[in-house]
Amino acid sequence: MPLLGWFQSCLGAKSKVGTISSSITVFYGSETGTTKGFAQRLRQKAAAHNIQINVKGLESFNPENLSSYGRLVFMTASYGTGGPTTNAENFHKWLSSTIMSLTSIEYTVFAVGSSIYSDSYNGMGKFVDSQLAKLGAKRFYKLGLGDTFNDLEQDFMAWEEGLWAALTSDVAPVQLIPECPFKLVETNELKSYKTISPLDNNLLFQPPTLEMIHLVFNATASCMFGTIQFLNSQTTYRGTDHLVLYPCNPSAVVNALSKRCGASLDQIMITTATESMIPLPSSVHDILTYYYDCQTISHSLLTSLSMFASDKEEQSKLMHLGSFDGTEDYRKLPHYTLLGLLEQFTSITIDIPQLISLLPIMPQRTYTIASHTLNHCMDLCISVQQPSQDLSLHKGLMAMYLHSLNPINPDTRVKMRGYVKPSEFTFKDPKIPIIMIAAGSGIAPMRALWQERNNCGQMLLFFGCKSKGACIYADEIEQSQIITYFAYSQDSQPKEYETPSNGSKRY
Ligand SMILES: Cc1cc2nc3c(=O)[nH]c(=O)nc-3n(C[C@H](O)[C@H](O)[C@H](O)COP(=O)(O)OP(=O)(O)OC[C@H]3O[C@@H](n4cnc5c(N)ncnc54)[C@H](O)[C@@H]3O)c2cc1C
Ligand SMILES: Cc1cc2nc3c(=O)[nH]c(=O)nc-3n(C[C@H](O)[C@H](O)[C@H](O)COP(=O)(O)O)c2cc1C
Repeated sequence: MPLLGWFQSCLGAKSKVGTISSSITVFYGSETGTTKGFAQRLRQKAAAHNIQINVKGLESFNPENLSSYGRLVFMTASYGTGGPTTNAENFHKWLSSTIMSLTSIEYTVFAVGSSIYSDSYNGMGKFVDSQLAKLGAKRFYKLGLGDTFNDLEQDFMAWEEGLWAALTSDVAPVQLIPECPFKLVETNELKSYKTISPLDNNLLFQPPTLEMIHLVFNATASCMFGTIQFLNSQTTYRGTDHLVLYPCNPSAVVNALSKRCGASLDQIMITTATESMIPLPSSVHDILTYYYDCQTISHSLLTSLSMFASDKEEQSKLMHLGSFDGTEDYRKLPHYTLLGLLEQFTSITIDIPQLISLLPIMPQRTYTIASHTLNHCMDLCISVQQPSQDLSLHKGLMAMYLHSLNPINPDTRVKMRGYVKPSEFTFKDPKIPIIMIAAGSGIAPMRALWQERNNCGQMLLFFGCKSKGACIYADEIEQSQIITYFAYSQDSQPKEYETPSNGSKRY
């Protein structure tokens, strides 16, 4: 039955609880949050199916507790050459070396990777799937392969479609409007609600440890240059390490969303549940600004929002766009933000607690530190689209946040949440010649390298830019001893070699 027909047949139906043969635990291995986001979506979907599941990071996997996990769903991203994420390293080691018999275990795997890495595409997920089978575990549902290079969302939806049927002997229809665990209260009512710490020990919920002291936008290069320092100067890092940052939703977006949903920013949200993904009570301002991605639309969000549209035509359009069959039609639409979507579908009536229960936790973004360690400030160069006043179109979560802050100087510094993740991208002996190949903001680790080598050893750089004016750090390159070959993708003049003073060439 097509999804819409099935949905309509559920209208008015009393929600039936699926019969589950055992408990279910979803373990995710995620570095930058994509896979974790899908695991959280399974949790939301499970609630809508009236199924209770536990969602945990693979860092907490303990083989001694195997029998208590029930049926296992592994969701794993791949890194390096098809290897594990940092939080799955111990699990990977255990699975590679164990000789335990796992015949009592039932499992399925959804692998997240990119087919750009053709030799190691979804290596980690495939390894988990085959290794568990080798150890005697029973695959209760097929391996899913998600490809970020093509359409990860569609791959997930196709895999997820059969998952619920495989998990329950009697699939419960999705609750039309799932019970919302959140509630808005006034400050004077707060005393009767206890404080709930988030399930996940996420840095997002800790006080900020960083501050951005400088930010400028270079329109020709479509690049933001930022300088960030630690509030605690003890923290150590190297150039080429990665700085992981949490974006925020710009205040204009937060204001407009709270208005659209009829809440004021100083209202307080509490939960009636015993667990929460975010610290509660928290103000509507903090929740919308820091804790949730209030801009990106997923297929599941479209489907969920359809339940809040009073106009039948809008409701079925949203259902269609959110369904597997509607993927092509969704792609043809402008890239709406959540705000843009709520402006288009005017019959959607949803309050902040209901909206929040549908949104994903704010993801993190990773940037390579583009400067050497000595100046105690981390330079970043971040590719962004041109700024726009139009909040209805998605231009990138971090990009929109940075545009809303731009410019920043030491007098207007902005606190941020994030941390440094070590990189293996380094060359210890500066006497060894290096060849560097980069395009656009991909120059970031190269800049850290040439600064760290401080003109020692031979360096050859091939640098691709849109145009001559878009070559970031060009002055620094020309003043250095790096032999550089510039390549321009968009300059229309006939290609000619140019020999700047340091022997570099342009073509
Ligand atoms: C190890 C590592 C190092 C990195 N280093 C750098 C670096 O030094 N510099 C750098 O610039 N980047 C770097 N990146 C990439 C960076 O982490 C971000 O992916 C990038 O900045 C985009 O983030 P964003 O939040 O602005 O965009 P996102 O929100 O991720 O969006 C990306 C694009 O997709 C579009 N989009 C998003 N959602 C939708 C939707 N629902 N519908 C339609 N379109 C949509 C947006 O318009 C945008 O153009 C690095 C990544 C890694 C993994
Ligand atoms: C440095 C790096 C290495 C990667 N290596 C692989 C790989 O070997 N195989 C693969 O399928 N995907 C690879 N990927 C793609 C990631 O698995 C993919 O981006 C995934 O969505 C990340 O999920 P996460 O956000 O949950 O960490 C790599 C990505 C990066 C940034």
